[in-house]
Amino acid sequence: MPSYAFFHKQFVPLAEAKIEVMTHALHYGTAIFEGIRGNWNSEHQQIYLFRLKKHYERMQNGCQVLRLNLPYTTDELCQITIDLVARCGFQEDIYIRPLAYKSAQALGVRLHDLETDFLVFAMPWGRYLDVDKARCSVSSWRRPDETPRAKISGLYINNALAKTEANENGFDEAIILTSDDYVSEGSGENIFLVIDNKLVTPASYDNFLMGVTRDTVIKLAQNELGIETIERHIDRSELYTAEECFLTGTAAHITPVAEIDRRKIGNGEIGEITSRLQEIYSEVIRGNNPKYLEWCTPVYKKT
Ligand SMILES: Cc1ncc(COP(=O)(O)O)c(C=O)c1O
Repeated sequence: MPSYAFFHKQFVPLAEAKIEVMTHALHYGTAIFEGIRGNWNSEHQQIYLFRLKKHYERMQNGCQVLRLNLPYTTDELCQITIDLVARCGFQEDIYIRPLAYKSAQALGVRLHDLETDFLVFAMPWGRYLDVDKARCSVSSWRRPDETPRAKISGLYINNALAKTEANENGFDEAIILTSDDYVSEGSGENIFLVIDNKLVTPASYDNFLMGVTRDTVIKLAQNELGIETIERHIDRSELYTAEECFLTGTAAHITPVAEIDRRKIGNGEIGEITSRLQEIYSEVIRGNNPKYLEWCTPVYKKT
């Protein structure tokens, strides 16, 4: 299947979408990105874009922070994305990467007096963490303090350092702490523990990206399992003694964590609550649960 991009206000084959070398965002990370999943349902012969609008609302907020003047409304961004995926015609799980960026051919660290452009492309992408259960390590790299609450390209450098450190030490994913030693998030996921049969996750003051999947999981746990989520500081040692642990993200979905810093979590197998949430989540994102269809945008028109 050919992949396309929406680039410079038109649809072009992905291979033809090229950025010029002086592009401001390339040098200073002055961009906001998103990650959106398209989930293939073979029975319905349909791709469902999961919580499309919520992702673009987060992007619009980020653009406001970075003074990126997007020439599109949230509804227009959603429509461009639907048209893009329809054009690609994929029949498998995909990942969509929108980017709003300072496109000016200009050097100099700043946000003002620089043009903005928007691009989005879609590509097939299966599992992000390609394991049934992840082995994690707590990173020596910290989540920087005092950063804007936005998915800013330039902010991802500590996450990249943490991820590579974890992988090169033989782990699947890094868990990043705040500067005051509380658990913050994974390098590309939020984190949940199960303690006393309740979900526990870092609270907004723990300086992580407020995930769409995090929000989905909190709602599904409450609505479908009657399990409440407590948002609070989490100490590093609580990671080791939790009954269960899992990571959540658009790319990673719900990934169980079996081990942290060479300590088994629970019995080292996928925990019961994690596994029930995985099942519910996987039906919801594929448009198989009528209660949550408003979260699923179908791409292909039925004839
Ligand atoms: C650092 C970080 N935290 C958390 C998340 C989870 O966010 P979401 O569920 O919106 O994908 C992501 C994924 O984009 C991320 O990169």
